[in-house]
Amino acid sequence: MHSIKNTRLLDVLNNKPVDRTPIWIMRQAGRYLPEYLETRQRAGDFMTLASTPDLACEVTLQPIRRFSLDAAILFSDILTVPDAMGLGLYFAAGEGPRFKNPTRTPEDIKQLATPDPETELRYVMDAVRLIRRELNDSVPLIGFAGSPWTVATYMVEGSGSKEYVHIKKLMYGDENALHLLLSKIASTTIAYLRAQADAGAQTLMVFDTWGGILTPRAYQAFSLHYMQKIVTALRESHASIPITLFTKNGGMWLPDIARTGCNAVGVDWTVDLRDARALTQDRVALQGNLDPGVLYGSRVKIKEEVHRVLESYGAGERHIFNLGHGIHQYIDPDNVEFMIETVHELSPAFHAD
Ligand code: CP3
Repeated sequence: MHSIKNTRLLDVLNNKPVDRTPIWIMRQAGRYLPEYLETRQRAGDFMTLASTPDLACEVTLQPIRRFSLDAAILFSDILTVPDAMGLGLYFAAGEGPRFKNPTRTPEDIKQLATPDPETELRYVMDAVRLIRRELNDSVPLIGFAGSPWTVATYMVEGSGSKEYVHIKKLMYGDENALHLLLSKIASTTIAYLRAQADAGAQTLMVFDTWGGILTPRAYQAFSLHYMQKIVTALRESHASIPITLFTKNGGMWLPDIARTGCNAVGVDWTVDLRDARALTQDRVALQGNLDPGVLYGSRVKIKEEVHRVLESYGAGERHIFNLGHGIHQYIDPDNVEFMIETVHELSPAFHAD
């Protein structure tokens, strides 16, 4: 039996009281850290870094060594899943992710492989096992995947996008083909998250970065429906693993997200946590939601904004402090440290004892 030393994150997810608000940071391992840049340089490129368990473990641990965080998150990417489905992921310098073989036509979708994560994504499971060993139960490890909708947008567009021409053409032109694609991604993702849990991930998060580009009706049908499938499937196989869902720009759908049976909902900075809490009725924990841009500000400003986030949630046990989205590469790590120390200092006042 393992017993984690720092249980704050798992306690909040499981609705147990904590002495202060737990904190971790989306993209906490990344380019704002000089030690990350050094390791990536040594690896040569992002995919080598992510697919070499020793290196993925090293960068996962870097923010844990530097800061007093309450969780580690597996260093990987949501796009390793489509890479394993045969799309050929690569990162062109300064251009973000790209696929050699995007999935455009119904024919492409029919031919897509549904890989076995235990073999084709084995490097991820090896990294999870290694990270758990190195963490030595100091803090819990978060595993993750992209939402089927978000992963599909990259697969169909072939890269990041501003206008989503191809996926919207597919959505309004051949809905059945899009549903087939989303079903294939969802079943691969379920197997992938189960494998991460079996390898040692202690909680799981699903990132739906692009759900917010949809109409309310389309969000239900093409994004939330498939996240619901993931939650339901994980509940069948791993009843007690806590699950967090995060739809960026999904503030108006928080009650629907909370009803999936997840343990926590990520909230971006466009929503006041007071409103998010009223909408979800303490049925779930809320994770967020400092604007990462605050970390460009002075210490006085950072402290003021951290306090504002804590106060907007108010007194209660179900808040996980985080940014409203990933940290930017230009942020000074000393400001990150100051933010974390400020959460440690100010948050006990919002807890019972
Ligand atoms: O949070 C962590 O520290 C864990 C690692 C992690 C990465 N990507 C590493 C990464 C996680 C959880 C992700 C998730 C991810 N990846 C999402 C969902 C969350 C979000 O931020 O919206 C998305 C949409 C992606 C796809 C992706 N990967 C993009 C758009 C990019 C390029 C944009 C960018 O930030 O540069 C990546 C590359 C990537 N994934 C980097 C990191 C640290 C930067 C690559 C580099 O080192 O050059």
